[in-house]
Amino acid sequence: MPGRLQGKIAVITGNSTGIGRAISLTFYREGATVVCSDMKEDAPDGSTTHGLITKDGGKAIFIQCDVTKPSEVKNLMNTAVNEFGRIDILVCNAGNSGITREHMPAPIWELDDSVWERTMGVNVHGVFQTLKYGLRYMINQEPAADGKRGRIINLASIVGLVGTRNSSSYVASKHAVAGLTKSVALEVAPYNIHCNAVCPGFVDTALVAGLKENDAAWQLINNLHPLGGIGKAQDIANMILFMASEENTWMTGACVPVDGGYTAQ
Ligand SMILES: NC(=O)c1ccc[n+]([C@@H]2O[C@H](COP(=O)([O-])OP(=O)(O)OC[C@H]3O[C@@H](n4cnc5c(N)ncnc54)[C@H](O)[C@@H]3O)[C@@H](O)[C@H]2O)c1
Repeated sequence: MPGRLQGKIAVITGNSTGIGRAISLTFYREGATVVCSDMKEDAPDGSTTHGLITKDGGKAIFIQCDVTKPSEVKNLMNTAVNEFGRIDILVCNAGNSGITREHMPAPIWELDDSVWERTMGVNVHGVFQTLKYGLRYMINQEPAADGKRGRIINLASIVGLVGTRNSSSYVASKHAVAGLTKSVALEVAPYNIHCNAVCPGFVDTALVAGLKENDAAWQLINNLHPLGGIGKAQDIANMILFMASEENTWMTGACVPVDGGYTAQ
């Protein structure tokens, strides 16, 4: 049986680890060719996302790309189109929480400028660059058999929908992603391109690893989700698969929580 993304070309940013890797492996299993990109090619265990896909017989390449650098984003899109002819699916996944050992969550009056610059740089400027240069190809390509020129998915967050204490730069950056998603959806609708965002609750990846080191904070985070516990990368990939597939005929400009009930409270 053909996969739900059979023959589609997908470009994904920041997919060497975490949610990006789960999206990539899911897309591959559903028949897509995956253009992998990240600042770093491999995960901490030395594995690569494109390596896992090609070892299993799938089609994938890796292109080094820091999304904050316009020249590298342009090169990512150029190379993807030169290699595979088009971009059917674009996932703006690369993100940075701003949390490090030196910079744990803090109220705004204690927020270091470097944290603000890093979160805004990757999460807002990076998504802007990725959308801008990806869409320069997507709006000009021939529609696929289903009449669509493509589908875009941005990684926002529950904190792109509601506020939280002590993470104002990350919260502001993800609200910006939600805003970009809605504006871009309007701009690309006449081209038959969909643009949606997924808004995950806390998901167990390297992004929140710093919080795991504090037992009390980790327990608190687990208790924040009415369903209990914390999300898995695959939970997010499953929603993104729907948004990227031809089953998504009528959803655009939506920011959809996948959050164990967090934003229902
Ligand atoms: N984990 C969560 O709880 C959670 C919740 C809501 C939203 N998100 C969002 O999901 C996305 C994926 O996060 P994750 O949890 O998989 O984290 P992660 O840290 O495992 O993965 C992020 C990836 O982005 C890459 N990256 C960072 N800066 C980059 C840059 N400038 N250019 C290119 N690549 C860059 C990293 O190298 C890494 O591979 C992010 O946008 C994040 O904000 C995560």
